[in-house]
Amino acid sequence: MIQKKAILQTLPKPFKQSAKKILKFPLMLKTRAELLMSGVEPLANTWNQRGESIHRTYLEQFLQEFSKDIKGHCLEFQEDSYTSRFGRTQVTKLDILHKETDNPKATIVADLTQPNDVPSNTFDCIICTYTLHVIPDLDYMVGELHRILKPSGVLLVAVPDITRNYPQYNELWRFTAKGLHLLLAKSFGDENVTVKTYGNSMTAAGELRGMTVEDFTTAQLNYHDPRYALVVCARCVKKSENLS
Ligand SMILES: C[S@@+](CC[C@H](N)C(=O)[O-])C[C@H]1O[C@@H](n2cnc3c(N)ncnc32)[C@H](O)[C@@H]1O
Repeated sequence: MIQKKAILQTLPKPFKQSAKKILKFPLMLKTRAELLMSGVEPLANTWNQRGESIHRTYLEQFLQEFSKDIKGHCLEFQEDSYTSRFGRTQVTKLDILHKETDNPKATIVADLTQPNDVPSNTFDCIICTYTLHVIPDLDYMVGELHRILKPSGVLLVAVPDITRNYPQYNELWRFTAKGLHLLLAKSFGDENVTVKTYGNSMTAAGELRGMTVEDFTTAQLNYHDPRYALVVCARCVKKSENLS
């Protein structure tokens, strides 16, 4: 089989970009042929088995777009997947929150669906990606995220819409853009919530079938049709008058 990487290595720099595009097409065709042969089964059963995950790429587009908000004292769930990468030198302090006590990366262990010790008005930015869909009491949790943000602090949220279910992560919910807006506006106020959707019918179907970023052109990936979102994201600002 022709190795795309090996061919690219032999080419001078000016030709690499066009060669990348040309070499991508046979591989895209190969994937589609494999899909026809695979019947009802997807090509892969996890999001990163065959290449770069589509939903993570969309989530990263969102964080890149709002990277100016990732500054000062930040909070992220589970690990530093995105704060340092997108906030860079704007970040002065980072806390990692985890519900369970078994995560050595956690600097705060707390259940945000119960009364807890996390102080109010603490964080300039909270990155809450792929977390709300596992939370039973969403209203309480969002109220807590609002409480622990500083006035003018920003909450950046990403949740799944069209995607497969992973029972091992105890997933509970999927969100439409309207549903996410409604949930967040209860604590932050309607005018302080901006929701964006990422994905289209082709990439949504593709992710369900086990395809990855490499299986699509940039134009196909960057066409966002809210009727077929893979990922729904939101930016929420805590207004000073909402100070708790
Ligand atoms: C699937 S991880 C997602 C985080 C990760 N940064 C990502 O982008 O995939 C879910 C996180 O939610 C946290 N979590 C679940 N229930 C929680 C609760 N009731 N209170 C606080 N955190 C909770 C877990 O401890 C875990 O860190």
